[in-house]
Amino acid sequence: MSFHRLVLNQVSSNSEPIKVWMRIVFSFILATGAWSCQPDKPPVPKEYPEPTPFTWVNRPFFPPPILPANNPLSLQGVELGRHLFYEKKLSGDNTQSCGSCHRLNYAFSDSLLRYSKGIDGIEGNRNSMALFNLTWHTRFFWDGRTPSLREQVLLPIQDPIEMHQSLPDAVRKISETPKYKALFGAAFRSEEVTSDRIARALEQFLLTVVSGDSRFDRFRQNPVAHPLSASEQRGLDLFMREYSAPSTGRPRGADCFHCHGGHLFRADAFFDNGLDEQPASGFEVVTGLASDRGKFKATSLRNIALTAPYMHDGRFSTLEEVLDHYSNHLKNSPNLDPNLRIVYQSEGGLNLSNQDKQDIINFLHTLTDSSLINNPAFQPPLD
Ligand code: HEC
Ligand code: HEC
Repeated sequence: MSFHRLVLNQVSSNSEPIKVWMRIVFSFILATGAWSCQPDKPPVPKEYPEPTPFTWVNRPFFPPPILPANNPLSLQGVELGRHLFYEKKLSGDNTQSCGSCHRLNYAFSDSLLRYSKGIDGIEGNRNSMALFNLTWHTRFFWDGRTPSLREQVLLPIQDPIEMHQSLPDAVRKISETPKYKALFGAAFRSEEVTSDRIARALEQFLLTVVSGDSRFDRFRQNPVAHPLSASEQRGLDLFMREYSAPSTGRPRGADCFHCHGGHLFRADAFFDNGLDEQPASGFEVVTGLASDRGKFKATSLRNIALTAPYMHDGRFSTLEEVLDHYSNHLKNSPNLDPNLRIVYQSEGGLNLSNQDKQDIINFLHTLTDSSLINNPAFQPPLD
């Protein structure tokens, strides 16, 4: 400041050069920012409070959740994730969101489509997967090729047969959309949009999608108040009983629990369930081992009545067809699971009666969680 005054004092005796001097002085002031109240000061970044932690409530009998320590769930992060999940600007031509192929009515799988279509109308060769209880998964996709949900969620955006958009374009379009300033600010205490933050918010949202309130769950908690029908109970018994060859004289079991067991009704593992004699690669893409060819994720059978068609390529349209497969059409593929190989060698399949199949299907219907598909927290935001 004193330097500016000095200059002004020196030139004040002569009025003509004073204008020249003033110009020099003002440009100096502007250039150095020395003037304490310059008019074009950049706006002060908005201060956002610490996000509110999200209280993750587990369901009875479920294993403890595996939540990422480096991406703690917050109400604001989850809400941002929900907006992004339904955001069509994440696709190259603004026509498709995650929610286009993962629909809440179908437990976040696709509608009756065998293969979902991407923005360019190109069909993939995999059936869309239901999304719930993902906190207990350690590998994603039918073949398990991605080990983390945070990595996984950015892949459909870039996939040429899905949303087909580069991450820089996605980041730019989200930054240019006004509502996201406040949403990112609330979730991350800064309005800056980055692909890492998009991934974190989507991860947070998806981790809140828990399904554990089916009729079966109520039966499990209080069988007297919520009994199963005789057919459903028989289906459950078949589902949970090990297979025994007829010669043993033991009661027939359908052996489903081996791969779709526990309270999550799935295995965090990959098996060949005998779909093809010459199967597609499957888990082999992860390990490079021929012994993993044809092995796919044993998905959860919760909400299975909502997620037709079935299998990685959606080859079966109904649960009846699935039961026919295990009962009568197992294929002798090289890596057929050892439990199913015993069945195959003994009778070619489980050889279930029509009543057995119907009872298992009736039991599977008790795994439908209508509170999941009606939960307003998972519906598209109103904006
Ligand atoms: C064009 C349809 C389509 C769109 C759009 C799409 N998905 Fe998917 N999603 C699929 C298909 C098909 C699979 C199975 C792909 C495979 O296994 O190769 C899948 C698998 C997944 C899985 C793996 C689930 C598991 O149990 O392993 C997650 C998670 C997922 N998608 C999340 C998303 C998110 C998040 C978005 C938006 C950023 C999205 N998807 C957009 C079709 C789609
Ligand atoms: C050896 C392990 C194994 C056994 C035993 C088994 N499954 Fe599966 N199941 C799998 C695998 C792996 C998949 C996914 C296969 C694929 O898509 O290629 C699957 C897929 C399914 C699907 C389709 C899931 C979806 O999301 O599309 C249904 C339904 C199903 N099984 C029901 C049953 C029933 C009912 C039984 C008992 C009769 C049974 N499974 C026994 C491993 C098994």
